[in-house]
Amino acid sequence: MSEHHAPKQFDPVVILSERFARAIRAAFPDAAAADPMITPSRRAEFGDFQSNAAMPLAKKLGVNPREAAAKIIAELDLGDLAEPVSDADIAGPGFINLRLKPQTLGAMLGAMDTPSLGIDPPADPPTVVVDLCGVNLAKQMHVGHLRSMVIGDAVARSLERLGAKVVRQNHVGDWGLPIAMVTSRVRGEAEAGRLELDGLTLDDLDRLYREAQLECSPDGRGLAAARKWDMGPKAIAELEAQVSGSEEALARAKATLLSLQSGDAETVRVWRTIADVTLNECLAICKRLRVLVDEEHSAGESSYADELSPLVQDLIDRKVAEEDHGALIIRVRDVTQPCLVRKSDGGFLYATTDLAAIRRRVQKLGADRVIYCVDARQSLHFQQVFGAAIRAGYATKPGAHSHSSLEHAGFGMVLGEDHRPFKTRSGENVKLAALLVEAEERALRVVTEKNPDLPETERGPIASDISVAAIKYADLSNDRVKDYVFSFDRMLSFEGNTGPYLLYALVRVRSIFRKAAERGIEGEPGAELLLREPAERTLALTLLRYPSVLRAVGETLEPHRLCNYLYELASSFSGFFDACPVLIAEDPAVRASRLRLCALTGRVLEDGLTTLGMPTPQRM
Ligand code: ARG
Repeated sequence: MSEHHAPKQFDPVVILSERFARAIRAAFPDAAAADPMITPSRRAEFGDFQSNAAMPLAKKLGVNPREAAAKIIAELDLGDLAEPVSDADIAGPGFINLRLKPQTLGAMLGAMDTPSLGIDPPADPPTVVVDLCGVNLAKQMHVGHLRSMVIGDAVARSLERLGAKVVRQNHVGDWGLPIAMVTSRVRGEAEAGRLELDGLTLDDLDRLYREAQLECSPDGRGLAAARKWDMGPKAIAELEAQVSGSEEALARAKATLLSLQSGDAETVRVWRTIADVTLNECLAICKRLRVLVDEEHSAGESSYADELSPLVQDLIDRKVAEEDHGALIIRVRDVTQPCLVRKSDGGFLYATTDLAAIRRRVQKLGADRVIYCVDARQSLHFQQVFGAAIRAGYATKPGAHSHSSLEHAGFGMVLGEDHRPFKTRSGENVKLAALLVEAEERALRVVTEKNPDLPETERGPIASDISVAAIKYADLSNDRVKDYVFSFDRMLSFEGNTGPYLLYALVRVRSIFRKAAERGIEGEPGAELLLREPAERTLALTLLRYPSVLRAVGETLEPHRLCNYLYELASSFSGFFDACPVLIAEDPAVRASRLRLCALTGRVLEDGLTTLGMPTPQRM
């Protein structure tokens, strides 16, 4: 747990950990530093929390674990926090179960019920750069980019929510020979009168990109090898350019790259058009998905172009890089393959640019952490680049003693229902834009079916919210590094751990307050929390976990933890709402307490969904 987010008093895990640590110190002075291992109970009937400390402790000291548990209990002073703990609370091999007193639980929850929901910004907020989106010029976006956008945005929002200064960086693939190839092709087509630059679309570009690839590499041998060894999309693109044959086209492309580098006006104009067409579509998709990536976040590979020569010279001068068969490499500890920073023909690589990016992000933008939300298949690339950057000192802030943290938050592939990479029936990549249109059409059908009385004008925006929630949640709720199966039917379902279910849970909570208002009932923000019913306790215990779940997302960069939590919260709320009348509760104190539970649930749901980048409609 990072010191930036020192948990506040109300967190029962923290409070109980302190009490247990004290008891362990008293009972076993030889193992004074043992972890109290407090976790929420697996099963409510055993209690609220359990300590699992006795087992490892007993093993270490060579004593019987149940006896160790008894000794801890003998020293345990929980004061008025919990019901008295006795040897009868030892379960199985030595778990110690305990149950908080209702007043304690109510007081803890009351302490969390602040405007920040118990998550206050750290005194000294860290700066975090999040690398997300990373589209490539002249190529249609497909579901692979979806993950970088959606996960990157959720990670960025989570860190912002925890109080970090987040800088989003869209590392657009807008430079290098492949881009020069398509630029050259577009220019040729335009000059031959076969293309209007003004009316250029991303579909045109997608086609021209492929034509340019073919034109420059008709034999495809190197390409075949790169594919065989699965060297990754970037390496493949780079090799695609190296394949011999079609020397003329290749020579033209190389000349175009030189003109681009020297800022030749006409070439730059064509390149800029290609960049604008690609970026406009990309940013429109981000907007539609409520992904906070805008023009200001673009820091494409081209923005590092002028830094590469001096950077490589610096690496040579300081003997960080060395010659190898005419190429320039940096050896990285614990990584078998070195980081290649200059090819033998003098060209720079994807990795060279990433080294420059790390240097700018850490030394200019002041990043304490740089997080890459990029396909897991680029893992070797990041190991090489991270290791090289650390060796070169580029990952260390000026004046800092240690380097900043460089983290690859890699993600798995999106699969079709046949569990193969998600493709159209004809084997093409599924275009992201088309996917979003289809999701919205399907959502509209679902909304119309579920709620036929809803006025037409409201249905559209709600369908849009639902489609976005469905797509994003399906992506986020899966373990980030794993592949997941894209299924419209499943993600649009209102039941189970889905986006629409969670939006619906929030809408239900909100409707309680609409009904309350109709009946003239007002909630009391400071009402005493009376937690007598099991369902009330369960809900309270779930609510109390929110800050620690969010902190865990910030540390592990795993948004699915927040998804699972919100799903549990929605389920706890549903259990509470079924078992405990709210508006019709007879005792006004009970009604006020329950309304406060509802309000808090609504706020946590809304906060959590917003942190994931999900829409939060008022009605559905
Ligand atoms: N454009 C790259 C690709 O499509 C992703 C960029 C990821 N970010 C980075 N700093 N390398 O593979």
